[in-house]
Amino acid sequence: MLKIAVLVSGGGTNLQAIIDGIKNRTIMNTEISVVISNNEGAFALERARSSRLEAVCISPKNYEDRESFNEALLKKIDEYNVDLIVLAGFLVKIPEKLVEKYEGRIINIHPSLIPSFCGVGYYGLKVHEAALARGVKVTGATVHFVDSGMDTGPILLQKAVCVEEGDTPQTLQRRVMEQAEWQLLPQAINMIASGKVFLGSKK
Ligand code: GAR
Repeated sequence: MLKIAVLVSGGGTNLQAIIDGIKNRTIMNTEISVVISNNEGAFALERARSSRLEAVCISPKNYEDRESFNEALLKKIDEYNVDLIVLAGFLVKIPEKLVEKYEGRIINIHPSLIPSFCGVGYYGLKVHEAALARGVKVTGATVHFVDSGMDTGPILLQKAVCVEEGDTPQTLQRRVMEQAEWQLLPQAINMIASGKVFLGSKK
């Protein structure tokens, strides 16, 4: 059984796709051990609780400085002894210590075709605003392993999505979620759970 921690910050539609994937068995052999949000108001926490999952908030606001927040996040994740950390719309930079300890065991979903529209400052709607401003005709989503850079780790899966005439950042975001993200993230987890992708050894 692949034990995962899902880290979230907002609406949690990607978390929902994982919950549904486990229920309808498109994701095999996987259990969500904990859902962690940096934001108490995240609707993702409600989604987790209504599926009877362990849901906790570790907010930087409740810590004196970044270092103590980072320590608390690492400590909380360690408590669950998970095999994989899934960043499902987690909009916080992953602390270096966490990346080191879970090397090769953290995946992230990003709402563009990396290396376009990624890196510092590109998250959520901003990604789609930038894609529209540049006038690209095709965008998409990427699932990649997390390394110490921002959106620079090895790519696991990508899917292209067409931009349509009259798109707004919101309509484009929705299409990228529906046509790419909600399929790719469950697919990536299932590939890992079924041993098609090798994870680094636990530290
Ligand atoms: C998703 O579009 C995800 O790809 C993006 O945030 C959104 C979260 O939505 N992540 C990033 O931009 C990471 N750089 P959700 O809370 O409904 O899953």
